[in-house]
Amino acid sequence: MGFLEVKDLTLGLKNTYLPLVEGVSFSLKKGQTLGIVGESGCGKSLTGLSLLRLFPPGITHYRGNVFIDGISLFEIPERELFKIRGKKIAIILQDPLTALNPVFTIEEQIEEVLKVHFSLSKKERKERVYQLLSEVGISEPKLRAKCYPHELSGGLRQRAMIAMALAGNPEVLIADEPTTALDPTLQVQIIELLKTLKEERGLILLFITHDLTLVKHLADRIAVFYAGEIVEIAPAEVLFENPLHPYTQTLVSVFKNDEFLTKAMPVSMLEKPKGCWYWERCLTPCKEGKEKHPELINFDSFHQVRCWNYV
Ligand SMILES: Nc1ncnc2c1ncn2[C@@H]1O[C@H](COP(=O)(O)OP(=O)(O)OP(=O)(O)O)[C@@H](O)[C@H]1O
Ligand code: SF4
Ligand SMILES: [Mg+2]
Repeated sequence: MGFLEVKDLTLGLKNTYLPLVEGVSFSLKKGQTLGIVGESGCGKSLTGLSLLRLFPPGITHYRGNVFIDGISLFEIPERELFKIRGKKIAIILQDPLTALNPVFTIEEQIEEVLKVHFSLSKKERKERVYQLLSEVGISEPKLRAKCYPHELSGGLRQRAMIAMALAGNPEVLIADEPTTALDPTLQVQIIELLKTLKEERGLILLFITHDLTLVKHLADRIAVFYAGEIVEIAPAEVLFENPLHPYTQTLVSVFKNDEFLTKAMPVSMLEKPKGCWYWERCLTPCKEGKEKHPELINFDSFHQVRCWNYV
């Protein structure tokens, strides 16, 4: 199988009703990649983590659902989540040092994942570890497997984390800014690796980034987030050629002209305006946007946008 469906996902603060991610919906089939793009604080990481039913302290799930191969992640008992995490869906993060345990070798950590999900002999497990390390482009895997995370360079550490994420043979892989901490050459290498992996394994890949450049060659579709909601979602090439939302238009023109984005600060999550959340920053603000919040509407069957200009 291999089908991910996210419906109306809404998350926010635990003790007071304050949504930080609101009404997020999309679906992806085997082999498809969705790029999630938006500026810092717009809810990308919260969305990514919640697809594993994981929440940072103080954050909870308000409503909506995530289905993987038809199984609802929010309806299964907590004790069954281990069958999903790692096995159906896995995540790689920006900083492998926070995700990898410093006191165990790479081999020990990948073996732990294999123990949870498969019944393999010790010899088979070791072989599998070396296979996984080779698959992610780590040369001399037997030698490198014996290293502790801090003994590897940044690029190798990121590859080791990808190997660990793949150990359970997941159908869905979430990559949350996996290259931000790396220098540009290594960034390109990791993007190439993810591209190969998604093609060879038929992964559903969610690639989270604030950088449109990175997502252009990897994603089939791109969802643009603003202040916790999707403001536009379209096939990657359509989004670059025909961006509809004023925010996406700014992002794309910044990308095409290689400029820095210098306009006003993002909207505060604590005091969102009642109308369009982008109204204050919009270069062509509309009258309706001052008062009324736009819905995400179908511009055509594969392109959705949240802006009164298209209603
Ligand atoms: N544990 C938390 N408690 C309170 N607010 C939080 C918590 N985690 C995140 N937030 C808030 O939720 C919003 C979304 O955070 P999130 O980490 O998803 O953003 P992001 O898009 O991943 O940003 P970045 O690009 O900087 O990683 C932000 O406004 C953030 O301040
Ligand atoms: S709804 Fe109006 S204010 Fe909001 S982005 Fe569209 S044009 Fe700008
Ligand atoms: Mg983040």
